[in-house]
Amino acid sequence: MTRFEGYAALVTGAGQGIGAAVAHRLAAEGARVLVTDRDAARAGSVAAAVRDGGGSAEAHGCDVTDAAAVRAAVARAQEAFGGLDVLVNNAYSCHRDPDRFEEWEEAPWYEDFEVTLHGAARCARAALPLLARSGGRGAIVNVGSVNAEQHFGDHAYSAAKAGLASLTRTLAVESAPRGVRVNLVEPGTVRTDVWRDRAAMLEQARAHYPLGRVGEPEDIAAAVAFLASRDAAWVTGVSLPVDGGLLVSNLAMNRTMAR
Ligand SMILES: NC(=O)c1ccc[n+]([C@@H]2O[C@H](COP(=O)([O-])OP(=O)(O)OC[C@H]3O[C@@H](n4cnc5c(N)ncnc54)[C@H](O)[C@@H]3O)[C@@H](O)[C@H]2O)c1
Repeated sequence: MTRFEGYAALVTGAGQGIGAAVAHRLAAEGARVLVTDRDAARAGSVAAAVRDGGGSAEAHGCDVTDAAAVRAAVARAQEAFGGLDVLVNNAYSCHRDPDRFEEWEEAPWYEDFEVTLHGAARCARAALPLLARSGGRGAIVNVGSVNAEQHFGDHAYSAAKAGLASLTRTLAVESAPRGVRVNLVEPGTVRTDVWRDRAAMLEQARAHYPLGRVGEPEDIAAAVAFLASRDAAWVTGVSLPVDGGLLVSNLAMNRTMAR
């Protein structure tokens, strides 16, 4: 499949996990990908792996909380690829909840917003002038979370992801006349390093998924690729759960009430 032949894409937080899977998927379908991460070495490894697989990728260190670094990453895409067609906002921050809400410290609370919501807005601001020049194929895909829709803990992260869903809708409407679509995927539990030290919990999570398993990074990458591609040419402003049926089910209650 070559849906992204001639496309240039920039993915944030792409040094591992879902972002890395997105970089691999877009490159496998023909895109030239700028693999960015605040950890430049990780970004370098992913870009090298993409190239080893026959794809086209470059690495660039970029912390999405740093406006100058974000502008430099977009400038790098322009320089290396001659433009930008797709931006995937994937970087995030998530601090665990303290025992009580009133015990939240200011710094971790604001950091979750700074990376997850403001980082995505910052990248969109920097990239939009180039996306608007890509002849109607410009697309932003934001990586949200099911946490934006229901209570799963992680208060600051969840509120920031809900903000990202709202930003997706408003930016979609504002950018539509410039030929840029803006959409969001909402992953459920996905097997990445986030769960490395919580293997038992990841195994237990399976029971809550109607499709009987947790997600793999490639499940999310496939949905991101769809929304970024011309296959989704008439789709903008949506929040797409990619969650094995989690949000439409209540399996725990069903089991309790089952006769
Ligand atoms: N894994 C899950 O279960 C899950 C569930 C729902 C949503 N998501 C979402 O998927 C996305 C990716 O999650 P993951 O599990 O692959 O994460 P991960 O922790 O495995 O990888 C995140 C990457 O982002 C980078 N990063 C962190 N802060 C950054 C910053 N300020 N600037 C640039 N890069 C930064 C890290 O260096 C890392 O390489 C996130 O938006 C997350 O909210 C994940």
